[in-house]
Amino acid sequence: HDPMPPPGTSALRYELLAKCSTTRARAATLHLTHGPVPLPIFMPVATQASLKGLTPKQLEETGCRLCLNNTYHLGLKPGQKTLDAIGGAHKLQGWEHNILTDSGGFQMVSLLQLAQVTEEGVRFLSPHDKSPMLLTPEHSISLQNSIGSDIIMQLDDVIATTSPDHARITSATARSIRWLDRCIAAHRNPSTQALFCIIQGGLSLPLRRQCTQEMLARNTPGIAIGGLSGGEAKSSFCAVVSAVTELLPETKPRYVMGVGFPDDLVVSVALGADMFDCVWPTRTARFGNAVTARGTLNLRHQSFAEDFRPIEAGCGCVCCRAPAEGGLGVTRAFVFHTAAKETAGAHLLSVHNVWFLLGLMGRVREAVVRDVFPGFLRGYFAEMYGGDK
Ligand code: GUN
Ligand code: ZN
Repeated sequence: HDPMPPPGTSALRYELLAKCSTTRARAATLHLTHGPVPLPIFMPVATQASLKGLTPKQLEETGCRLCLNNTYHLGLKPGQKTLDAIGGAHKLQGWEHNILTDSGGFQMVSLLQLAQVTEEGVRFLSPHDKSPMLLTPEHSISLQNSIGSDIIMQLDDVIATTSPDHARITSATARSIRWLDRCIAAHRNPSTQALFCIIQGGLSLPLRRQCTQEMLARNTPGIAIGGLSGGEAKSSFCAVVSAVTELLPETKPRYVMGVGFPDDLVVSVALGADMFDCVWPTRTARFGNAVTARGTLNLRHQSFAEDFRPIEAGCGCVCCRAPAEGGLGVTRAFVFHTAAKETAGAHLLSVHNVWFLLGLMGRVREAVVRDVFPGFLRGYFAEMYGGDK
């Protein structure tokens, strides 16, 4: 296999700022093609051009400088020809900041019952016209090259961690390593788009360690841990993240895929991870849920009908901020009364929820820099589970 280009010609530079002296938490700046991003970071999922219903401007106002798009969705619509004609997803969306694309296989296997994985790639029927299609590692990378995302992901063979089929998990892990070689060979823009490997291996720590060693030998500029957040026990999740980060170099970003609950974010940072994505904060907003430092509030509940406090006191997001400070001064009661007409309330909550998770990662980063992260964690859990909402 061809190793990735030497440092300096890569699309990514990881600048370590501080390490916690008692946990594995790290604070860093990740320099990407469309600007620097602070780590640790939460990346909201903007499936089609933006978070559902928000403009790129509104996404930018949440503080987001790195969002996630899906190769699967963009490859179907607008499709590669249009992406090439426009010059990629940044131009298509009017988004000047960074984009990470997932490779597509995971979305197909999780969205389509009829997806079938072979050594060639993932076979599926087009959701538009039911015609048979094949996503190979080469095609996924070619699509991501056309999208022009700043971070691109290898195509991987993902098996749910809760699967009892150890033989299938073992073969999927070996296949993911072979597919990484094909992705590296197919990648046309390594100096502007950083390719991440995705470590698989289910809940088996020996298999995870073996996969980690194989993938580290391929020397990608960033490393992801996949196949988690599929309903496994928290203790298993933590054991896998810890077993993998223990083997990783200090000099590269570490991305745990599919994680977005606040508790999981702060615990994963303590275990040495520094990038995360999840649809949960924006999806749960559409069900009327506000994510706060004291837990999740369902603002469709009758008890909020006359609650004229902001969604979260002290929050700096444009919804919670007072009009005198340039905000919208949105109250819990307002969200309660607009929640029936789904969109307005859902958009406001999406903005708040993304702001909250970005802010949480910012506070974590600050605590690591000041070397007070363990105390920060204690304070975080005391507030989350200790008081009134
Ligand atoms: N999103 C959440 N988990 C995964 C994974 O294991 N692989 C990919 N490609 N995307 C994911
Ligand atoms: Zn807010």
